[in-house]
Amino acid sequence: MNQILVLNGPNLNLLGVREPEIYGRTTLADIDELCAATAAEVGLEARCIQSNHEGELIDAVHAARGSTVGAVVNAAAYTHTSVALHDALKSYPQPIVEVHLSNPHAREPFRHHSYISLVADAVVAGAGARGYAHAIRILAEAIGGPRTTTAGADRTTKGRL
Ligand code: DQA
Repeated sequence: MNQILVLNGPNLNLLGVREPEIYGRTTLADIDELCAATAAEVGLEARCIQSNHEGELIDAVHAARGSTVGAVVNAAAYTHTSVALHDALKSYPQPIVEVHLSNPHAREPFRHHSYISLVADAVVAGAGARGYAHAIRILAEAIGGPRTTTAGADRTTKGRL
């Protein structure tokens, strides 16, 4: 088993045309390609899924249980609202790296809280599309590397960074 889940949330299908001054000109197809290439470099295979629907994102997390070795998650606006996605990820047994193209902490106050960070082992924010490549490398290290007990303290059974 060498698949990782790359999960993208609402409105990220519009990358390239949506607020390019914030999110850049890179499209989601470009990001999927970047993820596939980066994953291949570290011996992994990226399963890239985007949905505008909270329930579909949750279903994708459930489907990834037992069939993937880690997850890169950009939950987009659901980052700041979704207890349901938080709960799904909390039950996901493998390492999770949260990623954001922008740096939500440098933006509106409603973006400062993340329900995903509470269950993520690492966060990459503000690095643009390259952040996905960084996130996959971090994930690869977490999957292959030594385990510590410092991250995600309430998820005791999974691989640690
Ligand atoms: C985002 C940041 C979120 O606040 C926002 O709702 C997004 C994208 C990012 O990648 O920077 O849709 O997750």
